[in-house]
Amino acid sequence: MKTAPSSPTTPRPFLKWVGGKGQLLDELIERFFSAKVSGRYHEPFVGGGALFFGLHRLGRLGKSNAFLSDNNERLIEAYWGVQADVEALIALLEGHRAQHDKEYYYAMRGTVPESLTARAARIIYLNKTCFNGLFRENSRGGFNVPMGKYQNPPICDPENLRAVSLALSGTEVSVRPFAGVLDHAVAGDFVYFDPPYHPLSASSNFTAYHEGRFGVSEQQALAAVYRELDQRGVALMLSNSMCDFVRELYAGFRIDTVYACRCVNRDAGGRGKIPEAVVMNF
Ligand SMILES: C[S@@+](CC[C@H](N)C(=O)[O-])C[C@H]1O[C@@H](n2cnc3c(N)ncnc32)[C@H](O)[C@@H]1O
Repeated sequence: MKTAPSSPTTPRPFLKWVGGKGQLLDELIERFFSAKVSGRYHEPFVGGGALFFGLHRLGRLGKSNAFLSDNNERLIEAYWGVQADVEALIALLEGHRAQHDKEYYYAMRGTVPESLTARAARIIYLNKTCFNGLFRENSRGGFNVPMGKYQNPPICDPENLRAVSLALSGTEVSVRPFAGVLDHAVAGDFVYFDPPYHPLSASSNFTAYHEGRFGVSEQQALAAVYRELDQRGVALMLSNSMCDFVRELYAGFRIDTVYACRCVNRDAGGRGKIPEAVVMNF
């Protein structure tokens, strides 16, 4: 299907991110509409930010302050680069597009530039040209995903980057672990949590975003944050895999089942549609 061209009012995710919520957007937006929200929007596992940009396209976030964060510093640098100087970023990406070939990809992969804009352009370039848009680093923090086999990768979409830059004005974007949301969220706000999913099988690689696994204790700590925010009167929505562990962690809250095609998770039911949980306190 051909996607509609972007305009300054239609920002779309500017990175392809594992676990991106593009497919489930309608389901999530429908539920967001039923929450009572009078305050700000928070997304502490922002990744590609599919829901944030989706709500922007519908004009549901306006200019109100939003808080986006993630513990992946390279990812957040890309957001900062778009915020700081989108025209300089576009110029650098056009340069990458003009020079893109195998040799250039591996040269860029092995070099981390000094300036924020150049680092942001590098991550966007690698994201658009690497295998499956994966983000993976070795133990020394070096990006180590091989080049993907794309005929004409969409390295630079100036209109969308400008729209994203507008959407991000008035938005605080930071590198922080998810519990940082406790410092900002107050009654009337809305938080969408989209953590690495609890694996459906021991060998599932679905949580392999970058070094540091999101294990059982992180899922438990997240559920504790969820309960604390619920006590504060914050509206909450959370995605995770549908399994007994997740049902038990969020016992007492509304848990809906939605279906998504999760091609990354080869071990859990192949490439068909698999059920996922959406946990809400409204
Ligand atoms: C499922 S992805 C989010 C996808 C996003 N909703 C989208 O639409 O693209 C999960 C994100 O959580 C981040 N993450 C993993 N562990 C984290 C932690 N302890 N604190 C904050 N973010 C974390 C990862 O870097 C990744 O971007």
